[in-house]
Amino acid sequence: MQPPVEPFKIKVVEPVKIPSEERRREAIREAGFNTFLLLSEDVFIDLLTDSGTAAMSDNQWAGMMIGDEAYAGSKNFYNLEKAVQDVLGYKHLVPTHQGRGAEHLMFQHLVKDGQIVPRNMYFTTSKLHVEIPGGKMVDSIIDEAHDPENLHPFKGNMDFNKLQTYIDDYGLEKIAFVSVEMNVNMAGGQPVSMENLRKLREFCDDYKLKIIYDATRSSENAYFIREREKGYEDTPIIEILREMMSYSHGSVYSSKKDCLVNIGGFLATNDKEIYEATRNMVVVYEGLHTYGGMAGRDMEAVARGLREGAEYDYLKYRVNQVRYLGELLMKANVPIVKPTGGHAIFLNALKFLPHLTREQWPAQTLAGAIYEDSAVRSMERGAVSKGRDKETGENIFPPLELVRLTIPRRVYTNTHIEYTAKSIVNLYEKRDNIPGLEMVYEPKYLRFFQARFEQIK
Ligand code: F0G
Repeated sequence: MQPPVEPFKIKVVEPVKIPSEERRREAIREAGFNTFLLLSEDVFIDLLTDSGTAAMSDNQWAGMMIGDEAYAGSKNFYNLEKAVQDVLGYKHLVPTHQGRGAEHLMFQHLVKDGQIVPRNMYFTTSKLHVEIPGGKMVDSIIDEAHDPENLHPFKGNMDFNKLQTYIDDYGLEKIAFVSVEMNVNMAGGQPVSMENLRKLREFCDDYKLKIIYDATRSSENAYFIREREKGYEDTPIIEILREMMSYSHGSVYSSKKDCLVNIGGFLATNDKEIYEATRNMVVVYEGLHTYGGMAGRDMEAVARGLREGAEYDYLKYRVNQVRYLGELLMKANVPIVKPTGGHAIFLNALKFLPHLTREQWPAQTLAGAIYEDSAVRSMERGAVSKGRDKETGENIFPPLELVRLTIPRRVYTNTHIEYTAKSIVNLYEKRDNIPGLEMVYEPKYLRFFQARFEQIK
């Protein structure tokens, strides 16, 4: 495929440089082979995350200048509320400092000790915020999602048989609510279809179960619905989004992705009871209900970014830039999760480094090796991220052991994408010499952020 043409031109640049081979070798050891612990200045192309790393538009920067920093009733809050109503169709908004702030409020309100939360697939912070009030998150995604080679167009879909089994095994009163993540991050950025969302609502209505989305990457999910689902070929993205949300009782949302900003989050709902409870809790944990931990200027950037991030031309470029990286890698037979998703390319570390055992953390090893080779920063998304079983304390080895090359929005040119692909193809050719890792430090919560490793001799 041809590289996608950018629907913008560049007004401000930030210089980056490639550290020497010697420095890269030293830097990854100083970081305990954990790419989260690298210094940003040691990184050439930063594909750690698409979270809070977007380039804002001139329109968003202009909005920053009209930040109303009043403690209460900031006009930017009302602009954000209006944007959420227009783009997502939810009436009520509770702002938070970022996505996990919204998860904290929503899940603390909805989850009681001993309950479960079925969700297509876990995300790290979401899982933890279900566990803190005593709940457990259980996967309910279709089996195809666990197979990196399977080309199902909507690998994020919920499996109704699995849901039914949870209801039968645990009993209805043990289900706190049903959660659906859009463009499922840990499955490779894979979308959920409109048909699946519509049917899920019918299914849950029969049991009077609430549905809460993690709508963080819902605009990219809406793009895939338009691209792949019959009947939506010409539907404006905003209409798709509003229909998607109409099948839920509310959403938690990290603005740091599809809203093209560096910080922010919110929860939104049409459910009065959820709204009143979380609006009361926000003042305890985040800030007043008209800012929730964000500055007025940040709320304005989110309000404008939510609208910009739902523009078709932008989304088309965005998804195709990710696809372009995927195609360059596939052409050289580098094993990746297929089909390519919305925000990242996921390398299949089990196939990339077949000489390592699961206990030698293949994905962690690969992320370190990529950095050392080319100063491209990626992230482990496998057993280190998954953590330990809450009851047995044993490591969980999920079927997917991946390295995520996450593409920040509007930040890197197609030449950066080509550099990345070329480096990884080169590394793939000398993959047999890469030694595995052992974990030498493990923090209690979200260990992947701060764990340290050493190379096995
Ligand atoms: N939900 C999903 C699906 C996410 O991907 C994230 C963050 C969150 C919730 C939490 O939001 O970071 O604003 O508190 N994902 C980032 C990532 C960290 O790199 O995938 P947050």
